[in-house]
Amino acid sequence: MTVFLTGASGLVGSAFARAAARRGHRVVGVVGGHASGVEGLAEKRTLDLADAGATTAAVLDVFPEAIVNCAAVSSPDACEVNPAQAQALNVALPALLAQLAHHVSARFVHLSSEQVFDGAQTTPYRAGDAPSPIQLYGRQKLESERAVDAVAREEAATLRAPLLMGNSLAGRRSPHERLFADWAEGRVPRLYTDEFRQPCTAENLAEVMLELCERPDVRGVVHWAGAEVISRHALGRRIRDHFKLSEKEAPIVAVTRAETPDATRKRQACLALDLAPLVGKLKTRPQTIAEQLEELKVPPPYREWYLKR
Ligand SMILES: NC(=O)c1ccc[n+]([C@@H]2O[C@H](COP(=O)([O-])OP(=O)(O)OC[C@H]3O[C@@H](n4cnc5c(N)ncnc54)[C@H](OP(=O)(O)O)[C@@H]3O)[C@@H](O)[C@H]2O)c1
Repeated sequence: MTVFLTGASGLVGSAFARAAARRGHRVVGVVGGHASGVEGLAEKRTLDLADAGATTAAVLDVFPEAIVNCAAVSSPDACEVNPAQAQALNVALPALLAQLAHHVSARFVHLSSEQVFDGAQTTPYRAGDAPSPIQLYGRQKLESERAVDAVAREEAATLRAPLLMGNSLAGRRSPHERLFADWAEGRVPRLYTDEFRQPCTAENLAEVMLELCERPDVRGVVHWAGAEVISRHALGRRIRDHFKLSEKEAPIVAVTRAETPDATRKRQACLALDLAPLVGKLKTRPQTIAEQLEELKVPPPYREWYLKR
């Protein structure tokens, strides 16, 4: 199948491109500022996806069987800094891609986030639970879900994803890559002992997205995540142990949410996701933390620090 992939240079998009190529799909990938190659792409196009005319022309030119949207302003902080740009990428773009998917009868797979929930619930959020975002990023993701559903109910599946582990192209995006950056550059990360997430890797999520491309019977908003819920502090320690780093080489300070009330107003305490009904429909399985750690590589920008430490 020919897939039109946005965000092909991102953490998830680059994993999707590799996975789709392994399965024999032809992937035309759109990047923004990323200048070098992306493994798995049959064709790479550089495009500003905030430009609706150029995006429409590219989709109509490729005339894909599936559109997969991995482009976004994916950092909540970046959304607060430039809300208009974030609105263009996080809301207007998925709405446009959904319309185009409807127009060319393509399957549409869109990515949303666990951050549509407020994190106050201690039991896992179900896909049908009422969303209640607490920051702009979560509100935009929710708006995108609704916009997609309004124009492409038959064609679209919107996947709410958790905190994502994995290996990004630049090596500075995912949790272990950010920890390496802190350690290599002499900073001490402060990680919450009482902030819980249910991570999976971008590779595992990409497998799910591929299955969704091939399964047009799955529609609407669905959840995916890992098999375990873990605190950010415990996750940091597991990452440190996995790479056999000592406490001296890779220090971590444990903090609680109560110690940083200003910072935690816009951070959810507990984001666990109920994976039904999707988990019962797919071959891909949710990963344990140990399985996720096995996939992680030493990030290229910090390889020298790691080898010399
Ligand atoms: N990472 C997570 O923990 C996480 C968790 C839950 C949900 N999600 C969601 O999953 C999706 C993928 O996230 P990610 O972590 O893979 O994001 P990412 O690594 O930040 O990648 C974002 C992608 O969007 C592209 N992009 C941004 N602005 C663009 C523009 N104006 N024109 C063209 N391309 C543009 C970037 O291209 P260039 O780099 O080439 O400019 C990059 O390929 C997003 O919808 C995100 O909200 C992510």
